[in-house]
Amino acid sequence: MIKKIGILTSGGDAPGLNPVIAGFTRKATELGYEVLGFLDGWRGLIEKEFEVLTLERVKEIVQEGGTILGSSRTNPWKIEDGFEKIHDSLKKLDIHAFAACGGDDTLGVAKELTQQGAKVIGVPKTIDNDLEATDQTFGFDTSINIAMEAIDRLRTTAKSHHRVFVLELMGRHTGWIALEAGLAGNANAIIIPEFEYSIDELCELLKKRHKQPRNYSIVVVAEGVIFPEMKEKIEQAGVDAFGNLILANLKVGEFLAEEIKKRTKLPVRSITLGHIQRGGPPSAYDRVLGLRYGARAAELIHKGKFGRMVSLQGNNITDVPIEKAVAKRKSVPEDLWLLAKSFFG
Ligand code: F6P
Repeated sequence: MIKKIGILTSGGDAPGLNPVIAGFTRKATELGYEVLGFLDGWRGLIEKEFEVLTLERVKEIVQEGGTILGSSRTNPWKIEDGFEKIHDSLKKLDIHAFAACGGDDTLGVAKELTQQGAKVIGVPKTIDNDLEATDQTFGFDTSINIAMEAIDRLRTTAKSHHRVFVLELMGRHTGWIALEAGLAGNANAIIIPEFEYSIDELCELLKKRHKQPRNYSIVVVAEGVIFPEMKEKIEQAGVDAFGNLILANLKVGEFLAEEIKKRTKLPVRSITLGHIQRGGPPSAYDRVLGLRYGARAAELIHKGKFGRMVSLQGNNITDVPIEKAVAKRKSVPEDLWLLAKSFFG
């Protein structure tokens, strides 16, 4: 009898999810499995909603952004008997093992399920690139290229109007996107959660730049930055199903632009790039990485290596225990921050 295995995509989507699904389905089919794709992350597994993934279904999805399976932030801990329902689905649908593609929240659930005896493989996904135990998550490369292009575009209009532009980029806990896009885009200042840089320091830098008549400036800020001046806004921001602050409600970019305006009297505009960073086709790098991750996840299932997360180490795809992936967040290292800082001004 043909064994059935599953795959789901959960949390915020990231360019490269469809290549993972394609790589997984192709390899799994080759190894003789039937593949079920659960819809909208943990919701589909809990509610037994899925589609059968055939080679025909996945043959034209590698270049597509988003995820053909849909995604959600459904949290089994927040659903009555959530984990029991998952075990029930696995049993009733006769699922031998499955792959869960996601960031720290999703992999936290995968770790719990592993401890409860389910056969799970993790696939590291997040544009934020903040997962430990892999050199890179897919989605990150696409997002920094989109963000870098946004900086290039802002530069010409900032130059024409001699303005300061504040660009808010994603990165809930870490500043990977802001730092790498800002560095590549030659921003005049980059502010990330890992290292302190005060609004006063920034305003001094801007005042100096704008002493030169008709100058312009680009300031990049990661959405996860919380200036001491913003503390009272935190309570009103609200949290998502996994208890993460909804940073879109904090609007650090707008806040910073207002402060710069007040303190320097310079002409300032703020832009939040938001979900544009997650949308659209994956970069070549993310397509290839996604395909490699997906294929390896299917291989791990075939070898019976469960409770593992596929991982990029150097240029090799390998695997690590899922608990290692969620034990610690990967922050921007100091040397990279100092390199970026040396270009400020
Ligand atoms: O998935 C990561 C991420 O894109 C973060 O960078 C951002 O804070 C969050 O998701 C936004 O979540 P949502 O799409 O639920 O608004």
